Order: sequence, then C-alpha cells, then structure tokens
Amino acid sequence: MNRKLVHSAMACAALLVASASLSPAAPIDPSATCGECHKDIHRMWSASAHARAMDDEIFLEAYRETKSGEGEEVSRQCLACHAPLTAVNADWGLAQKITWEGVHCDVCHGMVSVDMAGPNPRPVLDIGKVKRGPSKEAGSSAHEVAYSELHTTALACAPCHEGSTADGVKVMTTYSEYLASGAAKEGKTCQTCHMGKTRANVVDPKIAREAAAEVNLHEVPGGHSLEQLHKALQVALDPKRNGDSLLVTVRLTNKGAGHAVPTGMPGRRVILDLAVRSGTGAAFEGKRIYTKTFTDTQGTTITRDSKYFTKGLKLEADTRIQADERRTETFSFPLPAAATAHVTLKLHYEHAPTGGPENRTWLTFYSENRTLPPGGR
Ligand code: HEC
Ligand code: HEC
Ligand code: HEC
Ligand code: HEC
Ligand code: HEC
Repeated sequence: MNRKLVHSAMACAALLVASASLSPAAPIDPSATCGECHKDIHRMWSASAHARAMDDEIFLEAYRETKSGEGEEVSRQCLACHAPLTAVNADWGLAQKITWEGVHCDVCHGMVSVDMAGPNPRPVLDIGKVKRGPSKEAGSSAHEVAYSELHTTALACAPCHEGSTADGVKVMTTYSEYLASGAAKEGKTCQTCHMGKTRANVVDPKIAREAAAEVNLHEVPGGHSLEQLHKALQVALDPKRNGDSLLVTVRLTNKGAGHAVPTGMPGRRVILDLAVRSGTGAAFEGKRIYTKTFTDTQGTTITRDSKYFTKGLKLEADTRIQADERRTETFSFPLPAAATAHVTLKLHYEHAPTGGPENRTWLTFYSENRTLPPGGR
C-alpha cells in the first residue's frame, strides 16, 4: 500500500478502502437520506445492480461459499467490490445496516482518486461533507460540493470493474478492454454508454426550485438489459448454395460495446445458434460459444461465480468478441440443391452464476430467418 496515501488519509480522515483500521469521522448517511433531495437519482440507483451488489441472494450464496471454502482473506476481496463500506467501517462481521447498501452513493461520490500502483486499481475515499460530482456549477447548502474530473472518466469505474486473484490471474478486465477499444479513442467513457442522460430532477423541485434537467442514468444497464445487448453486435447472415451444400457465413462485429462481448465476471456467455431446416424435413444445427473459461488446480472447468477469485486459477480459453473485432463464422450443411432451405440465426446471452438452471438469465437478443428456394445445379 502507498505510504503517502495512508499518511494523508490519517491526517484528513480520508479513507483508503484497502485499509481496515480507519473509521470515518461521522457515520455514513443511508442512501435514502440522499434520496430525500436527490429523489429521481435515488430511485434509479435503487433499481441498479449497484444497489443490489450485496443484498442479493445470488451474490450472498457465492459469498458464503467462498468464505467457507476459501477463507476470510479471499472473501474480503469480494466485499471490496460488492460492499465497499465494510472496509470503510471495518464491518467484516456485516453487522451494520449500511454495509448492505452495496455500492452506496458515497462510495462513488466520496472517491477522490484511484490508486493504480498495485496489481488492482484501488479507490481512495474521503467520505464526509464534500460530495464530488461532474458539475462545475453545482452548489448546495445541504453539503459541500466539489467538481471532480475523475467522475467524468472511466477511471472512476476501474476499482471494481478490473480485478485479479491474489496470485495475479486476471479475472475481470472490463477496464483494460475498454482502454484498448476504439470507443475510448473516440472519447467515449463507461458513463457515455451506461449512464446516458435522461430527463429528471437533480434535486427534488420541492427542495431546490429547478426545472427538470439532464441527469445521468444511475440504473447502469448492462448485459442483462436487452436494449444494451441490441447495441452490442452488428450481425450479417449470408446463406449460399454450393451444389448439394448450404454454406452459411455469419459476421459479428463488436462496434457497440467499449469492451469485449460479453465482459465482466467470466462465465457470462453469448451463444450463436444456427438452425437449418430443409423443405423435406431434414434438420441441422450450428453453434458457437463466446466466453472466457478458467480451470482450477485439478484442471476442472469453473462454472460457479464463487470460484473465480480462488488460488491456482488458470485461463483456459477466451473466445469472446473483443472491442472492434469482426468475427466470421462459417458453416456447411449437406442440403440437396433441390430442397428449400429455412435458415434461422439466434443470439442468446446466458449467465448462470451457480452453474445450473436455478439462477440462470437467458435472453434471446437477436433473431433472423431466411428462406432459400430450391436452387438449380
Ligand atoms: C457507481 C458509482 C456511482 C454511484 C453508486 C452513484 N453515483 Fe451519482 N454519479 C456517478 C457519476 C460517475 C456521475 C457523473 C456522470 C457523468 O457526468 O458522466 C454521477 C452524477 C451524480 C449527480 C449529478 C447529477 C447528474 O446526474 O449528473 C448527483 C446529484 C449524483 N450523482 C447523486 C448520487 C446519489 C444520490 C446516489 C445514490 C442514491 C449516487 N449518485 C450513486 C457515479 C455514481
Ligand atoms: C437537503 C438536500 C440534500 C441532501 C440530503 C443531499 N443533497 Fe446532494 N445536493 C443537493 C443540492 C441542492 C445540490 C446542488 C445541485 C445543483 O446545483 O445542481 C447537490 C449536489 C450534489 C452533488 C453534486 C452534483 C454535481 O452535479 O456535481 C452530489 C455528487 C451530491 N449532491 C451527492 C449527494 C449524496 C451522495 C448525498 C447523501 C449522502 C446527498 N447528496 C444528500 C441537496 C442535497
Ligand atoms: C465500488 C465498486 C464499484 C464501482 C466504483 C463501480 N461499480 Fe459497477 N458494479 C459493481 C458491482 C459489485 C456490480 C455487480 C453487482 C451484482 O450484480 O451483484 C456492478 C455492476 C455494474 C454493471 C452491470 C449491470 C448489469 O445489470 O449487468 C454495470 C453496467 C456497471 N456496474 C457500470 C459501472 C460504471 C459505469 C461505473 C463507473 C461510473 C461503475 N460501475 C463503478 C461495483 C462497482
Ligand atoms: C460504447 C459503449 C460502451 C462503453 C464505452 C462501455 N460499455 Fe459496458 N456495455 C456496453 C454494451 C452494449 C453492453 C452489453 C453487451 C455486453 O454484455 O457486453 C455492456 C455491458 C457491460 C457490463 C455487463 C456485463 C454482463 O455481461 O453483465 C458491464 C459490467 C459493463 N458493460 C461495464 C462497463 C465499464 C466499467 C465500462 C468502462 C470501463 C464500459 N462498460 C464501457 C456498452 C459500453
Ligand atoms: C474487482 C471487483 C470484484 C470482486 C473482487 C468480486 N466481484 Fe463479483 N462482481 C463484480 C462485478 C463488477 C460484477 C457484475 C458485472 C460484471 O460481470 O462485470 C460481479 C458479479 C458477481 C456475481 C453475479 C451476481 C448476479 O446477481 O448476477 C456474483 C455471484 C459474484 N460477483 C460473486 C463474487 C464473489 C463470491 C466474489 C469473491 C470471491 C466476487 N464476486 C468478487 C465485481 C467483483
């Protein structure tokens, strides 16, 4: 840990999430208190994955499994991203109600900088009277306000969207995938695509008389949102006959996501599903899976989200479609030239955090049909 940061942290009661021994000068307000004035933003944040990051059965099950299987040290790593106030309040026992608020408003708006010196980006927090935000003009009598350039950049998202295991295996690389993308070079940030502007009140008009303004969407829609998935990939389907074969070419171009598709915690999959039916009843299938696969020390493929931060992890394959990449898939089916061909292409997004169908998300975000009449020789 950077000594200077710890030192200055002690001097001004700033907090480094990495350190557990410091406690804040005053108790942190529940997000509902911020919501008394920032009503619209609080409502949007409450519907986000950030608000659910801790208080969510899928995470909790994985967390308990990690704690009993891997021990306290590894499980604290989970909390650094899913319930960052545990470190701020040294609440490793999860006794405080505020801990359960996950990625609380003050985690982001109390962020002063991001320490990139170690293996993983770390937020430097100073949670107190000053709320840091994107506006140079904002002023409030409720709390002090400071303009923060950090909040307008992707770096503000790095502490939790980039992470490796204790022995240095890169598990989650959304931030570095983004840095290498054309979107980053064009000046787009995570906020451009995940916190798009929407009309709402920054502050409840009953409290501050202000007209509805352009407010940043705090719902941060991601891979579980059909709307986002629709933007991610450009698709071109091209079936052709070649004598008694049907050749199908599918081109997928990742132009809409400023990172790989899928991104984030490994185990999320995008599945290309091709079905060909002939007029005479013959049926064929083609399939491709885009995902990042890890194995454990025994060489067994990991299928549960709770296992990705364990020791001895090994990257087996990464078939995801990287930012700006164009992937061409070709398939050949034995289909008589005299038969009609019905071709159906589907793309699905799958996330099965516990490996089985129990908690599975399955979204079909693309579907296209083509019919080729019987072709001559
Ligand atoms: C994951 C981090 C994160 C969390 C959690 C978060 N915010 Fe924000 N907030 C931001 C960022 C980043 C911006 C600026 C986005 C931009 O300008 O592109 C912002 C903008 C704002 C603004 C300025 C008005 C606007 O929308 O542009 C206010 C006010 C605000 N947030 C309040 C809150 C409150 C209240 C909560 C909790 C209910 C909260 N935020 C939770 C990151 C966060
Ligand atoms: C009593 C009302 C009130 C409460 C409670 C309140 N705020 Fe604010 N806040 C305001 C007002 C008013 C502004 C100024 C808005 C402006 O000028 O656009 C503001 C501005 C902000 C900004 C700066 C936005 C920017 O555009 O840069 C952030 C960030 C923020 N508040 C976060 C919070 C958080 C987090 C909490 C809870 C811990 C909170 N606020 C509680 C009234 C309040
Ligand atoms: C303090 C940690 C933290 C910070 C900072 C943070 N996030 Fe997150 N984010 C998380 C966690 C944890 C989840 C997953 C919650 C869950 O599903 O359990 C998440 C989920 C997401 C998702 C996925 C939503 C979904 O439904 O699939 C998006 C998109 C996202 N964050 C965007 C952002 C952006 C943009 C920023 C920067 C402005 C940011 N995050 C900053 C911790 C953080
Ligand atoms: C050019 C737009 C764009 C930019 C820039 C961008 N994203 Fe995304 N993001 C998307 C789209 C579209 C999806 C849905 C497809 C997918 O899951 O990959 C997505 C999905 C996600 C997910 C959901 C993963 C899942 O499968 O549940 C997370 C988390 C995320 N982005 C975080 C970030 C972070 C953090 C940054 C900045 C470092 C960022 N994104 C930059 C467009 C963008
Ligand atoms: C570096 C930050 C980080 C760490 C460390 C981390 N996570 Fe996550 N986790 C995320 C983010 C961000 C997402 C969701 C978005 C994505 O896929 O990028 C997520 C998603 C999840 C999900 C899926 C939740 C859902 O509702 O779909 C589970 C389960 C999960 N994490 C469990 C864990 C466990 C258990 C640990 C500790 C062994 C852990 N995470 C460590 C950041 C982190």
